[in-house]
Amino acid sequence: MKKKIVVLAGDGIGPEIMESGLRVLSAVEKYCDDEFDYQSFPFGGAGIDKTGVPLPKETLNACQAADAILLGAIGGPKWEKAAETPEKGLLALRKSLNLFANIRPVAVSDVLAPQSPLKPEIIAGTDLVIVRELSSGIYFGEPRELTPTMAYDTARYQKNEIEQILHTAFKIAEGRNKRVTSVDKANVLASSKLWRATAEEIAKEYPDCQLDHQYVDSAAMKLIQRPTDFDVIVTDNLFGDILSDEASVLPGTLGVLPSASHSIDGPSLYEPIHGSAPDIAGQGIANPISMILSVAMMLRQSFAQEQAAQLIEKACDHVLAQGIATSDLGGTARTKEFTEAVIQICQTSSATL
Ligand code: NAD
Ligand code: IPM
Ligand code: MN
Repeated sequence: MKKKIVVLAGDGIGPEIMESGLRVLSAVEKYCDDEFDYQSFPFGGAGIDKTGVPLPKETLNACQAADAILLGAIGGPKWEKAAETPEKGLLALRKSLNLFANIRPVAVSDVLAPQSPLKPEIIAGTDLVIVRELSSGIYFGEPRELTPTMAYDTARYQKNEIEQILHTAFKIAEGRNKRVTSVDKANVLASSKLWRATAEEIAKEYPDCQLDHQYVDSAAMKLIQRPTDFDVIVTDNLFGDILSDEASVLPGTLGVLPSASHSIDGPSLYEPIHGSAPDIAGQGIANPISMILSVAMMLRQSFAQEQAAQLIEKACDHVLAQGIATSDLGGTARTKEFTEAVIQICQTSSATL
């Protein structure tokens, strides 16, 4: 049966890198057990332009009925003052689909390591996963208020929400190096105190794994100082957002980091961790790796197509090893050239890698 993929290209560089992702997906389809059927829907700023709102009802319905969702990126200066911003649409989509687990892997391959501003001996072997809680915390907590002279947000977590994301983190750690670092601000925040106590409880169910706790300020420092000390980092919505952009410095650019967002049993969403990059949008120079690797994550995690996923990942590394790279990685290749090179390798099959 054909798998239904909902495509939300979004804004800025979103459509540019989405085109790359979909072309690579087509190139590996022949190695997959499934066939894919894509349908595009307006979302974000593009949703506002077409329908007046960032998450049109038709788009949400399609996402709910999909087997998986691919998202480029949303947002930009044009819609900053909109009654409902693109960002609000993204949060509404995550909430509606109960996408509580955002998985952000940061693996620095040998070919990317020289792009890192970190010393070779510090960056070598960096391979970590940030597990970010995505559907609660300060992003969604009520009450919240904004007046000209006073404003507040609420960082609220229910215990079961913390349990859920901790289970996700430990399960991922079981398949890796069995180390979980829970990042919080338990020396100050009530929500973090509950987070830390809950992490301790859940850890008892995973005796093969080791749990340690770090405060977010110190974790931000250690992530850059000794990135290889980390295996799985689990943290709340806001800290996960910030730490994952920080972690993009390890491979040298935001343009190579994909992500997957999962609910308990609904469709998963795959998107780069970065935004719509208005500063380079329309120039054809965006790095498509983040989107291409998001497609690989989709093939692996939603459709169990491990071989095709690995082929895509190896093809990206292979192209970089040939010295073909976009400008964020110090190269001169345009988005299309890089994509073409990846497709070439995918089409000549995994045997060549
Ligand atoms: P950004 O992530 O869009 O860009 C930060 C920097 O990284 C920019 O210099 C940009 O050029 C660069 N960059 C990002 N992706 C790149 C790529 N693939 N190739 C090369 N360079 C890349 O962050 P921002 O500028 O703070 O935000 C721009 C807009 O994106 C805002 O409206 C923000 O709300 C939105 N945003 C959306 C998402 C999302 O759709 N999930 C995520 C983050 C930010
Ligand atoms: C991300 C983005 C979003 C977030 C914004 C655009 C709402 O920064 O996906 O990391 O903060 O979650
Ligand atoms: Mn972010």
